[in-house]
Amino acid sequence: MFFVALVAASWSEAVDKGEQAFQENCSLCHPLDRPRAKHLTRDEWQQTIEKMIGFGCPIGNSKTAQAAVLDYLVRTQGPAATRPQASVSPPGAGGQ
Ligand code: HEC
Repeated sequence: MFFVALVAASWSEAVDKGEQAFQENCSLCHPLDRPRAKHLTRDEWQQTIEKMIGFGCPIGNSKTAQAAVLDYLVRTQGPAATRPQASVSPPGAGGQ
């Protein structure tokens, strides 16, 4: 209930917050190219963020920012955001 209301009320704002938190927190130790090169699932992004917090990423101080960045990354760099380049075609896809 709370979550739905929050998303409905501030969807575009949440998008901006995710991008902003990403730029502020994820460029401190390496260029943003580092995460930008990746296309991961939500679980994998979650693990990556936790790993970065382990390295000392200040986003560990804010659950809200973590959730915003996670959403941002999954939306912009989830597994569906690009096609896998080095994988085999799924069986049945090419009719061979
Ligand atoms: C405190 C420093 C620090 C901050 C802040 C930081 N990182 Fe990192 N990050 C690292 C280090 C160190 C590595 C290289 C270690 C490795 O490759 O395992 C790395 C590597 C990465 C990689 C490549 C990992 C891989 O498996 O190839 C990704 C993706 C990444 N960071 C994403 C992020 C994101 C997203 C954020 C913001 C939430 C972030 N980083 C913030 C230190 C940081």
